[in-house]
Amino acid sequence: MDFQLKTLDLSGAAAERCDALLVLVTEGQRGGDDALSRLVADAIRARSFEAKPGKTLHAWRPEGVAAARVVLAGCGDGSPRRVHSAVHAAVASLRTAGVRRMAVVLPTGADGRSVRAAVAAAAEASYVYITTKSKPEGCEIERFTVGCPDAAAAQADFEAARGAAVGIEFARELGNLPPNRATPTHLAEEAMRLGKGRGFRCEVLGPREVAKARMGSFMAVAQGSEEPLRFIVLQYQGAAAAEAPVVLVGKGITFDTGGISIKPAPEMDEMKFDMGGAASVLGTFRALAELRPRINVVGLVPACENMPGGRAFKPGDVITSMSGQTIEVLNTDAEGRLILCDALTYAERFKPRAIIDIATLTGACVIALGNIRSGLFATDEALAQALQDAGELALDPCWRMPLDDEYGEGLKTHFADVANVAGRAGGSITAAKFLQRFAGKQPWAHLDIAGTAWKGGAAKGSTGRPVGLLVQYLLSQAQAASIESARPARSSVAKAARAARPAKAKEGTSAKAPAPRARAAKAGAAKARGR
Ligand code: BES
Ligand code: MN
Ligand code: ZN
Repeated sequence: MDFQLKTLDLSGAAAERCDALLVLVTEGQRGGDDALSRLVADAIRARSFEAKPGKTLHAWRPEGVAAARVVLAGCGDGSPRRVHSAVHAAVASLRTAGVRRMAVVLPTGADGRSVRAAVAAAAEASYVYITTKSKPEGCEIERFTVGCPDAAAAQADFEAARGAAVGIEFARELGNLPPNRATPTHLAEEAMRLGKGRGFRCEVLGPREVAKARMGSFMAVAQGSEEPLRFIVLQYQGAAAAEAPVVLVGKGITFDTGGISIKPAPEMDEMKFDMGGAASVLGTFRALAELRPRINVVGLVPACENMPGGRAFKPGDVITSMSGQTIEVLNTDAEGRLILCDALTYAERFKPRAIIDIATLTGACVIALGNIRSGLFATDEALAQALQDAGELALDPCWRMPLDDEYGEGLKTHFADVANVAGRAGGSITAAKFLQRFAGKQPWAHLDIAGTAWKGGAAKGSTGRPVGLLVQYLLSQAQAASIESARPARSSVAKAARAARPAKAKEGTSAKAPAPRARAAKAGAAKARGR
Protein backbone atom coordinates (compact mmCIF):
# COMPACT_ATOMS: atom_id res chain seq x y z
CA MET A 1 0.00 0.00 0.00
CA ASP A 2 1.26 3.42 -0.96
CA PHE A 3 0.84 6.09 1.73
CA GLN A 4 0.42 9.83 1.22
CA LEU A 5 0.18 12.69 3.67
CA LYS A 6 -1.82 15.84 2.91
CA THR A 7 -3.12 18.90 4.66
CA LEU A 8 -6.91 18.44 4.58
CA ASP A 9 -9.84 19.87 6.45
CA LEU A 10 -13.42 18.82 5.80
CA SER A 11 -13.96 21.24 2.92
CA GLY A 12 -10.70 20.11 1.30
CA ALA A 13 -11.64 16.48 1.87
CA ALA A 14 -14.89 16.97 -0.05
CA ALA A 15 -12.80 17.67 -3.15
CA GLU A 16 -10.49 14.67 -2.61
CA ARG A 17 -10.87 12.20 -5.49
CA CYS A 18 -10.95 8.65 -4.17
CA ASP A 19 -13.11 5.54 -4.01
CA ALA A 20 -13.72 5.83 -0.30
CA LEU A 21 -13.33 8.74 2.09
CA LEU A 22 -13.25 8.01 5.81
CA VAL A 23 -14.30 10.94 7.99
CA LEU A 24 -13.37 10.61 11.66
CA VAL A 25 -15.83 12.48 13.84
CA THR A 26 -15.04 13.38 17.44
CA GLU A 27 -17.60 14.04 20.16
CA GLY A 28 -18.52 17.71 20.31
CA GLN A 29 -16.88 18.44 16.97
CA ARG A 30 -18.00 21.81 15.59
CA GLY A 31 -18.87 21.79 11.90
CA GLY A 32 -18.36 24.42 9.23
CA ASP A 33 -20.55 25.21 6.25
CA ASP A 34 -19.14 22.64 3.83
CA ALA A 35 -20.79 19.55 2.34
CA LEU A 36 -19.17 17.03 4.71
CA SER A 37 -19.84 19.07 7.85
CA ARG A 38 -23.47 19.35 6.81
CA LEU A 39 -23.64 15.61 6.16
CA VAL A 40 -22.24 14.87 9.62
CA ALA A 41 -24.58 17.35 11.33
CA ASP A 42 -27.64 16.04 9.44
CA ALA A 43 -26.82 12.43 10.25
CA ILE A 44 -26.32 13.19 13.94
CA ARG A 45 -29.54 15.21 14.08
CA ALA A 46 -31.46 12.34 12.43
CA ARG A 47 -29.85 9.94 14.94
CA SER A 48 -28.43 7.89 12.05
CA PHE A 49 -24.94 8.45 13.39
CA GLU A 50 -23.08 9.19 16.65
CA ALA A 51 -19.49 10.27 17.29
CA LYS A 52 -19.03 7.42 19.79
CA PRO A 53 -16.21 4.93 19.11
CA GLY A 54 -17.44 2.03 16.98
CA LYS A 55 -20.32 3.92 15.32
CA THR A 56 -20.26 4.21 11.53
CA LEU A 57 -22.43 5.38 8.68
CA HIS A 58 -21.81 4.66 4.98
CA ALA A 59 -23.06 7.05 2.30
CA TRP A 60 -22.97 6.57 -1.49
CA ARG A 61 -22.16 9.65 -3.64
CA PRO A 62 -23.38 12.32 -1.22
CA GLU A 63 -23.89 15.76 -2.79
CA GLY A 64 -20.88 18.03 -3.08
CA VAL A 65 -18.36 15.27 -2.36
CA ALA A 66 -15.90 13.91 -4.94
CA ALA A 67 -15.47 10.50 -3.27
CA ALA A 68 -17.80 7.72 -4.43
CA ARG A 69 -18.30 6.43 -0.94
CA VAL A 70 -18.13 8.28 2.37
CA VAL A 71 -17.76 6.52 5.70
CA LEU A 72 -18.39 8.48 8.86
CA ALA A 73 -16.72 6.87 11.86
CA GLY A 74 -17.14 7.87 15.49
CA CYS A 75 -13.83 8.63 17.08
CA GLY A 76 -14.84 9.58 20.65
CA ASP A 77 -12.24 11.86 22.19
CA GLY A 78 -10.07 11.68 19.05
CA SER A 79 -7.08 10.15 20.87
CA PRO A 80 -4.50 8.23 18.82
CA ARG A 81 -5.90 4.98 20.21
CA ARG A 82 -9.40 5.89 18.97
CA VAL A 83 -8.02 6.95 15.60
CA HIS A 84 -6.26 3.59 15.38
CA SER A 85 -9.37 1.53 16.04
CA ALA A 86 -11.63 3.62 13.75
CA VAL A 87 -9.17 3.41 10.84
CA HIS A 88 -8.51 -0.27 11.48
CA ALA A 89 -12.21 -1.15 11.39
CA ALA A 90 -12.88 0.93 8.27
CA VAL A 91 -9.95 -0.48 6.28
CA ALA A 92 -10.80 -4.04 7.33
CA SER A 93 -14.38 -3.57 6.11
CA LEU A 94 -13.33 -1.99 2.80
CA ARG A 95 -10.29 -4.02 1.84
CA THR A 96 -12.19 -6.31 -0.53
CA ALA A 97 -14.98 -3.90 -1.49
CA GLY A 98 -13.66 -2.52 -4.78
CA VAL A 99 -11.84 0.35 -3.10
CA ARG A 100 -8.45 1.15 -4.65
CA ARG A 101 -7.88 4.68 -3.47
CA MET A 102 -8.86 5.48 0.08
CA ALA A 103 -8.43 8.63 2.14
CA VAL A 104 -9.02 9.48 5.77
CA VAL A 105 -9.58 12.94 7.12
CA LEU A 106 -8.43 13.21 10.73
CA PRO A 107 -10.32 15.42 13.18
CA THR A 108 -9.29 19.05 13.81
CA GLY A 109 -6.53 19.07 16.39
CA ALA A 110 -5.08 15.76 15.19
CA ASP A 111 -1.28 15.85 15.51
CA GLY A 112 1.61 13.62 14.47
CA ARG A 113 0.58 10.92 16.90
CA SER A 114 -2.81 10.56 15.21
CA VAL A 115 -1.09 10.44 11.82
CA ARG A 116 1.10 7.61 13.14
CA ALA A 117 -1.99 5.80 14.43
CA ALA A 118 -3.78 6.15 11.09
CA VAL A 119 -0.83 4.82 9.08
CA ALA A 120 -0.17 1.95 11.49
CA ALA A 121 -3.85 0.95 11.57
CA ALA A 122 -4.31 1.09 7.80
CA ALA A 123 -1.18 -0.99 7.22
CA GLU A 124 -2.19 -3.49 9.90
CA ALA A 125 -5.76 -3.93 8.67
CA SER A 126 -4.82 -4.16 4.99
CA TYR A 127 -2.38 -7.04 5.44
CA VAL A 128 -3.75 -10.37 4.27
CA TYR A 129 -1.72 -13.57 4.34
CA ILE A 130 -1.96 -15.27 0.94
CA THR A 131 1.41 -16.93 0.37
CA THR A 132 0.33 -20.53 0.81
CA LYS A 133 -3.25 -20.27 -0.49
CA SER A 134 -4.10 -21.69 -3.89
CA LYS A 135 -6.74 -18.99 -4.61
CA PRO A 136 -5.35 -15.87 -3.03
CA GLU A 137 -7.65 -12.94 -2.26
CA GLY A 138 -5.66 -9.98 -1.09
CA CYS A 139 -6.37 -6.39 -0.14
CA GLU A 140 -7.48 -4.21 -3.06
CA ILE A 141 -6.57 -0.85 -1.53
CA GLU A 142 -3.52 0.52 -3.35
CA ARG A 143 -3.24 4.06 -2.13
CA PHE A 144 -4.05 5.43 1.30
CA THR A 145 -4.07 9.20 1.86
CA VAL A 146 -3.92 10.59 5.37
CA GLY A 147 -5.41 14.05 5.62
CA CYS A 148 -4.51 16.07 8.71
CA PRO A 149 -4.61 19.73 9.78
CA ASP A 150 -0.88 20.36 9.23
CA ALA A 151 0.99 17.92 7.00
CA ALA A 152 4.36 19.66 7.36
CA ALA A 153 4.24 19.40 11.14
CA ALA A 154 3.34 15.70 10.98
CA GLN A 155 5.83 14.76 8.25
CA ALA A 156 8.46 13.14 10.50
CA ASP A 157 5.82 11.11 12.35
CA PHE A 158 4.32 10.06 9.03
CA GLU A 159 7.68 8.87 7.68
CA ALA A 160 8.47 6.99 10.89
CA ALA A 161 5.12 5.19 10.86
CA ARG A 162 5.34 4.37 7.17
CA GLY A 163 8.87 2.97 7.48
CA ALA A 164 7.88 0.93 10.52
CA ALA A 165 4.82 -0.41 8.66
CA VAL A 166 7.04 -1.86 5.93
CA GLY A 167 9.14 -3.64 8.58
CA ILE A 168 6.08 -4.84 10.47
CA GLU A 169 4.62 -6.38 7.32
CA PHE A 170 7.93 -8.09 6.58
CA ALA A 171 7.97 -9.59 10.09
CA ARG A 172 4.33 -10.69 9.89
CA GLU A 173 4.89 -12.46 6.61
CA LEU A 174 7.89 -14.38 7.96
CA GLY A 175 6.05 -15.23 11.16
CA ASN A 176 2.99 -16.53 9.33
CA LEU A 177 4.91 -18.77 6.94
CA PRO A 178 4.45 -22.43 7.88
CA PRO A 179 7.36 -24.08 9.67
CA ASN A 180 8.14 -26.35 6.73
CA ARG A 181 8.82 -23.17 4.73
CA ALA A 182 10.26 -20.84 7.37
CA THR A 183 13.22 -23.05 8.23
CA PRO A 184 16.52 -21.72 9.67
CA THR A 185 17.91 -21.91 6.12
CA HIS A 186 15.00 -19.84 4.81
CA LEU A 187 15.47 -17.15 7.48
CA ALA A 188 19.13 -16.95 6.51
CA GLU A 189 18.25 -16.65 2.82
CA GLU A 190 15.78 -13.85 3.60
CA ALA A 191 18.46 -12.05 5.61
CA MET A 192 20.97 -12.42 2.76
CA ARG A 193 18.41 -11.08 0.31
CA LEU A 194 17.71 -8.12 2.59
CA GLY A 195 21.43 -7.45 2.87
CA LYS A 196 22.12 -7.67 -0.86
CA GLY A 197 19.16 -5.62 -1.99
CA ARG A 198 19.34 -2.92 0.62
CA GLY A 199 22.97 -2.33 1.35
CA PHE A 200 23.54 -4.22 4.58
CA ARG A 201 26.38 -6.45 5.45
CA CYS A 202 25.04 -9.97 6.00
CA GLU A 203 26.95 -13.02 7.10
CA VAL A 204 25.51 -16.45 7.82
CA LEU A 205 27.28 -19.01 10.00
CA GLY A 206 26.43 -22.69 9.50
CA PRO A 207 27.06 -25.69 11.79
CA ARG A 208 30.82 -25.71 11.15
CA GLU A 209 31.37 -22.04 11.96
CA VAL A 210 29.07 -22.19 14.98
CA ALA A 211 31.04 -25.18 16.31
CA LYS A 212 34.26 -23.27 15.73
CA ALA A 213 32.86 -20.33 17.73
CA ARG A 214 32.11 -22.90 20.51
CA MET A 215 28.42 -22.06 20.81
CA GLY A 216 27.80 -25.33 22.66
CA SER A 217 24.47 -24.26 24.10
CA PHE A 218 22.95 -23.22 20.74
CA MET A 219 24.29 -26.42 19.14
CA ALA A 220 22.70 -28.59 21.86
CA VAL A 221 19.23 -27.25 21.04
CA ALA A 222 19.73 -27.73 17.30
CA GLN A 223 21.16 -31.26 17.48
CA GLY A 224 17.78 -33.05 17.54
CA SER A 225 16.70 -31.66 14.18
CA GLU A 226 17.40 -32.65 10.58
CA GLU A 227 17.29 -28.96 9.67
CA PRO A 228 20.75 -27.43 9.97
CA LEU A 229 21.09 -24.42 12.26
CA ARG A 230 21.95 -20.93 11.02
CA PHE A 231 23.46 -17.98 12.87
CA ILE A 232 22.64 -14.74 11.04
CA VAL A 233 24.69 -11.55 11.45
CA LEU A 234 23.27 -8.35 9.90
CA GLN A 235 25.00 -4.98 10.07
CA TYR A 236 23.41 -1.64 9.21
CA GLN A 237 25.78 1.29 9.13
CA GLY A 238 24.02 4.64 9.23
CA ALA A 239 26.65 6.51 11.28
CA ALA A 240 30.44 6.71 11.38
CA ALA A 241 32.08 3.28 11.57
CA ALA A 242 33.65 4.15 14.92
CA GLU A 243 30.25 4.70 16.57
CA ALA A 244 29.22 1.86 18.90
CA PRO A 245 26.20 -0.03 17.51
CA VAL A 246 22.96 -1.15 19.11
CA VAL A 247 22.84 -4.95 18.91
CA LEU A 248 19.46 -6.63 18.45
CA VAL A 249 19.30 -10.37 19.18
CA GLY A 250 16.22 -12.30 18.02
CA LYS A 251 15.15 -15.79 19.11
CA GLY A 252 14.79 -17.83 15.95
CA ILE A 253 13.24 -21.15 16.95
CA THR A 254 11.44 -21.97 13.71
CA PHE A 255 9.47 -24.69 15.47
CA ASP A 256 9.36 -25.50 19.18
CA THR A 257 8.06 -28.99 19.94
CA GLY A 258 9.58 -28.73 23.41
CA GLY A 259 12.10 -31.42 22.46
CA ILE A 260 12.29 -34.46 24.77
CA SER A 261 10.33 -32.41 27.34
CA ILE A 262 7.66 -32.43 24.64
CA LYS A 263 4.72 -30.05 24.61
CA PRO A 264 1.07 -31.19 24.62
CA ALA A 265 -0.63 -31.39 21.19
CA PRO A 266 -3.28 -28.63 21.46
CA GLU A 267 -2.09 -25.45 19.77
CA MET A 268 1.37 -26.82 19.13
CA ASP A 269 1.08 -25.44 15.57
CA GLU A 270 1.43 -21.98 17.11
CA MET A 271 5.01 -22.81 17.97
CA LYS A 272 5.84 -21.88 14.39
CA PHE A 273 5.64 -18.34 15.76
CA ASP A 274 8.56 -19.09 18.09
CA MET A 275 10.79 -17.24 15.64
CA GLY A 276 8.91 -13.99 16.30
CA GLY A 277 12.00 -12.41 17.86
CA ALA A 278 14.03 -13.25 14.77
CA ALA A 279 11.26 -11.94 12.51
CA SER A 280 11.20 -8.69 14.48
CA VAL A 281 14.95 -8.22 14.02
CA LEU A 282 14.72 -8.84 10.26
CA GLY A 283 11.63 -6.60 10.06
CA THR A 284 13.47 -3.85 11.91
CA PHE A 285 16.29 -4.07 9.36
CA ARG A 286 13.72 -3.85 6.58
CA ALA A 287 12.47 -0.63 8.18
CA LEU A 288 16.03 0.67 8.57
CA ALA A 289 16.40 0.28 4.80
CA GLU A 290 13.41 2.59 4.34
CA LEU A 291 14.31 5.19 6.94
CA ARG A 292 18.15 5.19 6.86
CA PRO A 293 18.59 6.72 10.34
CA ARG A 294 22.05 7.86 11.46
CA ILE A 295 22.86 5.00 13.77
CA ASN A 296 24.72 1.71 13.61
CA VAL A 297 22.77 -1.47 14.26
CA VAL A 298 23.81 -5.12 14.39
CA GLY A 299 21.22 -7.90 14.17
CA LEU A 300 21.99 -11.38 15.47
CA VAL A 301 19.67 -14.33 14.92
CA PRO A 302 20.38 -17.83 16.20
CA ALA A 303 17.94 -20.00 14.22
CA CYS A 304 17.13 -23.70 14.66
CA GLU A 305 14.33 -26.15 15.40
CA ASN A 306 13.71 -27.71 18.82
CA MET A 307 12.88 -31.36 18.10
CA PRO A 308 12.83 -34.68 19.98
CA GLY A 309 14.76 -37.61 18.50
CA GLY A 310 17.60 -40.05 18.97
CA ARG A 311 20.18 -37.31 18.75
CA ALA A 312 18.24 -34.71 20.70
CA PHE A 313 19.63 -33.21 23.90
CA LYS A 314 17.86 -34.38 27.03
CA PRO A 315 17.09 -33.42 30.61
CA GLY A 316 20.18 -33.88 32.76
CA ASP A 317 22.63 -33.06 29.98
CA VAL A 318 25.31 -30.56 30.94
CA ILE A 319 26.38 -28.34 28.05
CA THR A 320 29.10 -25.71 27.74
CA SER A 321 28.07 -22.29 26.46
CA MET A 322 30.26 -19.99 24.38
CA SER A 323 30.90 -17.94 27.53
CA GLY A 324 32.46 -21.00 29.17
CA GLN A 325 29.66 -21.27 31.73
CA THR A 326 28.25 -24.79 32.01
CA ILE A 327 24.48 -25.29 31.97
CA GLU A 328 22.46 -28.21 33.28
CA VAL A 329 19.45 -28.79 31.04
CA LEU A 330 16.52 -29.58 33.33
CA ASN A 331 13.88 -28.97 30.69
CA THR A 332 14.53 -29.08 26.94
CA ASP A 333 11.48 -26.86 26.41
CA ALA A 334 13.38 -23.95 27.97
CA GLU A 335 15.40 -23.78 24.76
CA GLY A 336 15.06 -20.11 23.86
CA ARG A 337 17.43 -18.98 26.59
CA LEU A 338 19.89 -21.67 25.49
CA ILE A 339 20.24 -20.27 21.99
CA LEU A 340 20.11 -16.64 23.14
CA CYS A 341 22.88 -17.00 25.73
CA ASP A 342 25.46 -17.82 23.06
CA ALA A 343 24.22 -14.99 20.84
CA LEU A 344 24.58 -12.58 23.80
CA THR A 345 28.18 -13.72 24.25
CA TYR A 346 28.79 -13.30 20.52
CA ALA A 347 27.37 -9.75 20.76
CA GLU A 348 30.24 -8.59 22.98
CA ARG A 349 32.66 -8.42 20.05
CA PHE A 350 30.74 -5.45 18.62
CA LYS A 351 31.42 -3.40 21.78
CA PRO A 352 27.77 -2.29 21.66
CA ARG A 353 26.25 0.74 23.36
CA ALA A 354 23.24 -1.45 24.13
CA ILE A 355 22.13 -5.04 23.59
CA ILE A 356 18.43 -5.78 23.23
CA ASP A 357 17.21 -9.34 22.89
CA ILE A 358 13.71 -10.10 21.66
CA ALA A 359 12.15 -13.50 22.33
CA THR A 360 8.90 -15.43 22.56
CA LEU A 361 10.49 -16.75 25.71
CA THR A 362 7.95 -17.81 28.34
CA GLY A 363 4.34 -18.81 28.74
CA ALA A 364 4.67 -17.18 32.17
CA CYS A 365 4.96 -13.76 30.49
CA VAL A 366 1.63 -14.40 28.75
CA ILE A 367 0.08 -15.11 32.14
CA ALA A 368 1.62 -11.95 33.63
CA LEU A 369 0.87 -9.39 30.90
CA GLY A 370 -1.53 -11.05 28.44
CA ASN A 371 -1.28 -9.92 24.82
CA ILE A 372 -1.34 -6.16 25.35
CA ARG A 373 2.15 -5.31 26.58
CA SER A 374 5.46 -7.07 25.99
CA GLY A 375 7.58 -7.80 29.07
CA LEU A 376 10.61 -5.52 29.44
CA PHE A 377 13.62 -6.41 31.58
CA ALA A 378 16.61 -4.09 31.71
CA THR A 379 19.84 -3.52 33.62
CA ASP A 380 20.06 0.12 32.56
CA GLU A 381 17.59 2.84 33.54
CA ALA A 382 18.09 5.04 30.50
CA LEU A 383 17.70 2.10 28.13
CA ALA A 384 14.56 0.94 29.93
CA GLN A 385 13.04 4.43 29.76
CA ALA A 386 13.90 4.85 26.08
CA LEU A 387 12.30 1.51 25.19
CA GLN A 388 9.18 2.29 27.20
CA ASP A 389 8.84 5.73 25.58
CA ALA A 390 9.33 4.24 22.12
CA GLY A 391 6.65 1.64 22.82
CA GLU A 392 4.13 4.28 23.87
CA LEU A 393 4.82 6.49 20.85
CA ALA A 394 4.62 3.58 18.39
CA LEU A 395 1.47 2.16 20.05
CA ASP A 396 3.51 -1.01 20.67
CA PRO A 397 3.79 -0.83 24.44
CA CYS A 398 5.83 -2.82 26.96
CA TRP A 399 5.89 -3.05 30.73
CA ARG A 400 8.95 -3.13 32.97
CA MET A 401 9.52 -6.27 35.04
CA PRO A 402 11.97 -6.75 37.93
CA LEU A 403 15.45 -8.32 37.97
CA ASP A 404 16.20 -8.63 41.71
CA ASP A 405 19.07 -11.05 42.29
CA GLU A 406 16.90 -13.16 44.59
CA TYR A 407 14.95 -14.27 41.51
CA GLY A 408 18.09 -16.01 40.26
CA GLU A 409 18.40 -18.32 43.30
CA GLY A 410 16.28 -21.06 41.75
CA LEU A 411 18.73 -21.49 38.88
CA LYS A 412 21.36 -23.01 41.21
CA THR A 413 22.32 -26.63 40.66
CA HIS A 414 24.90 -29.11 42.01
CA PHE A 415 25.92 -30.26 38.55
CA ALA A 416 26.78 -27.14 36.54
CA ASP A 417 27.29 -23.39 36.88
CA VAL A 418 23.60 -22.78 36.26
CA ALA A 419 20.40 -24.68 35.46
CA ASN A 420 18.21 -23.69 32.52
CA VAL A 421 15.00 -23.53 34.58
CA ALA A 422 13.89 -22.61 38.09
CA GLY A 423 10.45 -23.33 39.58
CA ARG A 424 7.14 -22.26 38.07
CA ALA A 425 6.91 -19.07 40.12
CA GLY A 426 7.99 -15.90 38.31
CA GLY A 427 8.88 -17.91 35.21
CA SER A 428 9.44 -14.93 32.91
CA ILE A 429 11.72 -13.31 35.49
CA THR A 430 13.86 -16.40 36.16
CA ALA A 431 14.27 -16.76 32.39
CA ALA A 432 15.49 -13.15 32.25
CA LYS A 433 17.85 -13.80 35.18
CA PHE A 434 19.34 -16.70 33.23
CA LEU A 435 19.97 -14.43 30.22
CA GLN A 436 21.41 -11.67 32.40
CA ARG A 437 24.33 -13.95 33.33
CA PHE A 438 25.40 -13.86 29.68
CA ALA A 439 24.69 -10.21 28.90
CA GLY A 440 28.04 -8.90 30.11
CA LYS A 441 28.63 -5.36 31.33
CA GLN A 442 26.97 -3.33 28.55
CA PRO A 443 23.47 -1.93 29.03
CA TRP A 444 21.16 -4.85 28.26
CA ALA A 445 17.42 -5.20 27.80
CA HIS A 446 15.26 -8.24 27.14
CA LEU A 447 11.79 -8.09 25.58
CA ASP A 448 9.63 -11.14 26.25
CA ILE A 449 7.11 -11.07 23.39
CA ALA A 450 5.47 -14.45 24.06
CA GLY A 451 2.09 -12.72 24.49
CA THR A 452 2.40 -10.05 21.81
CA ALA A 453 4.17 -11.59 18.79
CA TRP A 454 1.10 -13.37 17.51
CA LYS A 455 -2.64 -13.74 18.01
CA GLY A 456 -4.36 -17.09 18.46
CA GLY A 457 -7.96 -18.11 17.86
CA ALA A 458 -10.02 -16.75 14.96
CA ALA A 459 -7.57 -13.92 14.28
CA LYS A 460 -4.59 -16.29 14.34
CA GLY A 461 -1.50 -14.70 12.89
CA SER A 462 1.71 -12.83 13.48
CA THR A 463 1.42 -9.23 14.71
CA GLY A 464 4.89 -8.06 13.70
CA ARG A 465 5.43 -6.76 17.22
CA PRO A 466 7.70 -5.32 18.53
CA VAL A 467 9.05 -3.93 15.23
CA GLY A 468 7.18 -0.67 15.87
CA LEU A 469 8.82 -0.26 19.27
CA LEU A 470 12.30 -1.18 18.02
CA VAL A 471 12.19 1.10 14.99
CA GLN A 472 11.00 4.02 17.11
CA TYR A 473 13.73 3.34 19.68
CA LEU A 474 16.41 3.44 16.97
CA LEU A 475 14.95 6.61 15.40
CA SER A 476 14.87 8.31 18.80
CA GLN A 477 18.48 7.29 19.46
CA ALA A 478 19.55 8.63 16.07
CA GLN A 479 17.67 11.84 16.71
CA ALA A 480 19.24 12.28 20.15
CA ALA A 481 22.70 11.85 18.59
CA SER A 482 21.93 14.36 15.83
CA ILE A 483 20.66 16.89 18.38
CA GLU A 484 23.94 16.56 20.26
CA SER A 485 25.93 17.29 17.15
CA ALA A 486 23.61 19.94 15.66
CA ARG A 487 25.17 23.43 15.35
CA PRO A 488 23.33 25.75 15.47
CA ALA A 489 20.21 24.32 17.15
CA ARG A 490 17.32 23.54 14.81
CA SER A 491 13.61 23.15 15.41
CA SER A 492 12.65 19.79 16.87
CA VAL A 493 10.59 18.85 13.82
CA ALA A 494 13.52 19.48 11.51
CA LYS A 495 15.72 17.37 13.78
CA ALA A 496 13.25 14.52 13.77
CA ALA A 497 12.96 14.63 10.01
CA ARG A 498 16.73 14.81 9.63
CA ALA A 499 17.19 11.78 11.87
CA ALA A 500 14.50 9.83 10.07
CA ARG A 501 15.38 10.63 6.48
CA PRO A 502 18.35 10.25 4.22
CA ALA A 503 20.74 13.15 3.98
CA LYS A 504 19.60 14.24 0.55
CA ALA A 505 15.89 13.36 0.67
CA LYS A 506 13.70 15.77 -1.22
CA GLU A 507 11.39 17.88 0.92
CA GLY A 508 7.76 17.09 0.23
CA THR A 509 4.92 14.85 1.14
CA SER A 510 5.41 11.94 -1.23
CA ALA A 511 6.07 8.63 0.50
CA LYS A 512 8.15 6.79 -2.05
CA ALA A 513 10.89 4.79 -0.38
CA PRO A 514 14.07 6.84 -0.22
CA ALA A 515 16.99 5.37 -2.14
CA PRO A 516 19.61 3.81 0.10
CA ARG A 517 22.73 5.87 0.50
CA ALA A 518 24.91 4.94 -2.40
CA ARG A 519 28.05 4.55 -0.32
CA ALA A 520 26.43 2.18 2.19
CA ALA A 521 24.76 0.26 -0.62
CA LYS A 522 28.06 -0.36 -2.39
CA ALA A 523 29.94 -1.34 0.74
CA GLY A 524 27.16 -3.68 1.85
CA ALA A 525 26.73 -5.39 -1.51
CA ALA A 526 30.45 -5.97 -1.72
CA LYS A 527 30.59 -7.52 1.70
CA ALA A 528 27.39 -9.58 1.54
CA ARG A 529 28.24 -13.17 0.86
CA GLY A 530 26.34 -16.41 0.95
CA ARG A 531 26.96 -19.97 1.88
N1 BES B 1 8.41 -20.81 23.13
C1 BES B 1 8.09 -21.15 24.45
C2 BES B 1 7.37 -20.02 25.18
C3 BES B 1 5.93 -19.86 24.86
C4 BES B 1 4.98 -20.77 25.30
C5 BES B 1 5.49 -18.75 24.19
C6 BES B 1 3.64 -20.58 25.03
C7 BES B 1 4.15 -18.54 23.93
C8 BES B 1 3.23 -19.46 24.35
C9 BES B 1 9.34 -21.45 25.25
O1 BES B 1 10.37 -22.06 24.54
C10 BES B 1 8.94 -22.40 26.32
O2 BES B 1 8.54 -23.49 26.01
N2 BES B 1 9.05 -21.97 27.57
C11 BES B 1 8.67 -22.77 28.67
C12 BES B 1 9.70 -22.61 29.76
C13 BES B 1 9.52 -23.59 30.89
C14 BES B 1 9.87 -24.97 30.42
C15 BES B 1 10.41 -23.17 32.02
C16 BES B 1 7.29 -22.31 29.13
O3 BES B 1 7.04 -21.11 29.16
O4 BES B 1 6.46 -23.15 29.43
MN1 MN C 1 10.15 -24.18 24.47
ZN1 ZN D 1 10.42 -21.68 22.54
